Amino acid sequence: MPDFVNPFPGIASYKMNQSELARAVMLDIASELEAVHLYTAHMDATDDADAKKVLYDIALEELVHVGEFTSLLYRLDPVAASKAQEGFDEMEAMLGSKAPSASPREMTVVAR
Ligand SMILES: [Fe+2]
Repeated sequence: MPDFVNPFPGIASYKMNQSELARAVMLDIASELEAVHLYTAHMDATDDADAKKVLYDIALEELVHVGEFTSLLYRLDPVAASKAQEGFDEMEAMLGSKAPSASPREMTVVAR
């Protein structure tokens, strides 16, 4: 797990407000990315072709979850969405046409 402060030492005893929910979704995004790292590290550490195929497929599915959670975060926290857009804009200023688009649909997926 990412080294975030655990917001719920047990089960949350109350309903989260919008800000708390946005922060919880940030942790969910980090957890999905950690899963991608774990699965691809395991994939890289084996020569078993079937295991590699399954691990890569699951890693890609976790990236779908990253997109879903990120979309939810931007809906819950417009400031986060605005700041992420600033990052894309800064990359475009630095790299021009080599920068990834703000729209993930336009990005190229590199097959392994
Ligand atoms: Fe997931």
